Amino acid sequence: MLFDRKNFVPLHLAWMLGTLAAAIGAAVWYGSYIRAGRPWPGGGSVPGLVLGIVAGLIILFEFALWPRKTSFFRTARWLGKTQTWMKAHIWLGLLVLPLAALHSGMSFGGTFTSLLMWLLLIVVGSGVLGLVLQNLLPRLLIDRVPEETVASQIGEVSRQLVEDARRLVIEVCEGAEEELAPAGNAAAATGKQRVGVSRHVGTVVPRSLVPELTRPARTTAPQLVSAMRQEIETFLRSGRSSSGLFGSRTKTQQYFDDLREKNPGTVRAAIDQIESLCRRRRDLALQERLQFWLYAWLLVHLPLSVVLVVLLIGHVYFALQFG
Ligand code: HEM
Repeated sequence: MLFDRKNFVPLHLAWMLGTLAAAIGAAVWYGSYIRAGRPWPGGGSVPGLVLGIVAGLIILFEFALWPRKTSFFRTARWLGKTQTWMKAHIWLGLLVLPLAALHSGMSFGGTFTSLLMWLLLIVVGSGVLGLVLQNLLPRLLIDRVPEETVASQIGEVSRQLVEDARRLVIEVCEGAEEELAPAGNAAAATGKQRVGVSRHVGTVVPRSLVPELTRPARTTAPQLVSAMRQEIETFLRSGRSSSGLFGSRTKTQQYFDDLREKNPGTVRAAIDQIESLCRRRRDLALQERLQFWLYAWLLVHLPLSVVLVVLLIGHVYFALQFG
């Protein structure tokens, strides 16, 4: 659910004011039961009980978003619009906190009720965090990773980047074929032009670095070959570099400046292209991280909301039994 300047007033203002009004109304009503010199009304008092029941029902409604999102109910029109559910989920979810605080008389109580309160705080907190991430990360992704790849293809694109880098090194470095024998991918290291072979998506290197006739003679560039073997290939494959060699734009540039210094001028163009392959891989690694966080928060929110509902039922049971 997106929050921005344009949609806040039409989508959320009424819900926000309604939530505020409900929280203030509940607090004023509860306050009218406070008597000087007496403890604050607890869960068994009239306002405590009523606000506790409302908070409990809201938690059940909040939890119902899970079945609502299953394929069984997703298309059920009689359940109303998904967007309305989501707005209700957000604002009623926030309302639970003041209601639960009033219900408990502003105390976490014993071990069981403390556990319940902490769980509630974590579930609501993770919900807020998820909402923030859902709003920030997709925008960050568009900004920072303009050439976003379909998530499931990142592995394939990375493999292709390794192949491209190998091909570039083999094209300009004598003897690189033997040193860069590919693991399980023989075609990539032969150095032969694969003219006419259809290419996969996502790479940035032209089919051949330099047209065959004008291509400079291959030269020995052991530094480039060993850099490829020890650092570049691992990074292109996994998106991770030992000791953070490619950890930032500046570090990547320094690494390749150093490599250009140490190698003959005839391989510079190849190094430039390998650098752009590494930049592309850095973008993909960022994409992977952002997409991970876009879903990781739900791994806290969902399971803990299940535990919350179970403990809530336990809390009601104990209250009725031993009230
Ligand atoms: C009593 C508190 C809450 C409970 C029990 C609860 C429970 C749930 C459940 C069961 C889901 C469905 C998980 C799924 O996608 O499969 C969900 C999703 C979600 N919740 Fe909550 N929630 C609570 C409060 C909140 C609050 C306060 C917020 C935000 C202010 C929030 C934000 C979200 C968001 C953004 C989703 C994902 C919806 C989507 O992307 O489709 N939740 N919650």
